[in-house]
Amino acid sequence: MPDATQDQDASPVAGARPWEVAWQDSLYGPGGFYRHHAPAEHFVTSAQGLPGAGRILAEAVLALARTYGCRRVVDLGAGRGELLAQLRSLAPDLHLTGVDVVPAPAALEVDRWLVSPGGATLPDALEDLHDTLVLAHEWLDVVPCHVVEREEGTAAGWRSVLVTVDGDEHPGPAPVGPDLGWARRWLSPEVRRAEIGRSRDRAFADLLSRVRSGLVVVVDYGHTAEDRPRHGTLTGFRDGREVAPVPDGGCDLTAHVAFDSLAQEAGACRLTRQGAVLRELVGDPTDPVPHHLASTDPQGYLAAVARRAALTALTTRGGLGDFRWLLAPRRRSPA
Ligand SMILES: C[S@@+](CC[C@H](N)C(=O)[O-])C[C@H]1O[C@@H](n2cnc3c(N)ncnc32)[C@H](O)[C@@H]1O
Repeated sequence: MPDATQDQDASPVAGARPWEVAWQDSLYGPGGFYRHHAPAEHFVTSAQGLPGAGRILAEAVLALARTYGCRRVVDLGAGRGELLAQLRSLAPDLHLTGVDVVPAPAALEVDRWLVSPGGATLPDALEDLHDTLVLAHEWLDVVPCHVVEREEGTAAGWRSVLVTVDGDEHPGPAPVGPDLGWARRWLSPEVRRAEIGRSRDRAFADLLSRVRSGLVVVVDYGHTAEDRPRHGTLTGFRDGREVAPVPDGGCDLTAHVAFDSLAQEAGACRLTRQGAVLRELVGDPTDPVPHHLASTDPQGYLAAVARRAALTALTTRGGLGDFRWLLAPRRRSPA
């Protein structure tokens, strides 16, 4: 969604637009990347593409759903329903909803599927959710943001970055209003370039407002004030490789999520890492697989070794184990 607090026509360079606008078009416009490409065609996540990992993630989601008394699970940004398929096989009793910008795959067995506008905007029908766990697994990193760079000696201290469809960047006007407020609140002096997380905060607040009772779980690449990157994280992915971020619809565009500002939106919540969550909910990857199984139950032994490898990949420090998990319980309001 273009932001009214930015002057989109301020660029002297033809075709240069604020990153948030170009990013939105590039992923969710009529020729947008996600309208024509499945995530699994281009990159691996904990939910798909890593053998055995999606099942373990689904086990963790199921354990949380049971703990919080949720009879329904919504996968927001569900891709092609890979995680939902795992959940269906683990827990046929759960009511499952997928939400993404394309229709459900024909063979996917879910109870409901909503087609979404994409980015920060959610479908109207996603509302009034009770006893529901909503998982947003790698959703917010593809919610477009403004990009800013430091500009010393000016009143704002920041200028926005504009971009043309071929990826050339140009200096833009100073951010104003809430975007500037966000930069001042969340970016320390060492940070020279950053994505303004306000669009993610608002999208998350919108999601929270739709869940009356249950649990909202956001899982993503992220940072907080302690480890905020100094030069931003906006990048592209295509065909399994990281590529330059070019907003022409030909690649994914993603940037890490500022989890400290999200946590402030959530109020009472738990902010932790994937490694810790999966150890608690699923098991310790360092537990040895009993050797005797190799002779008494060779198939079982191989399955246990494969599961251990997947759990190790999902929990490793410096890798997927560092993913942030934000758990925001939602309580039923008194009648
Ligand atoms: C990085 S992929 C992650 C897919 C899957 N959750 C996974 O982890 O493999 C992001 C997905 O979010 C979807 N998406 C983006 N904005 C959305 C929105 N507002 N509503 C629903 N889906 C959205 C994209 O279409 C894409 O499928």
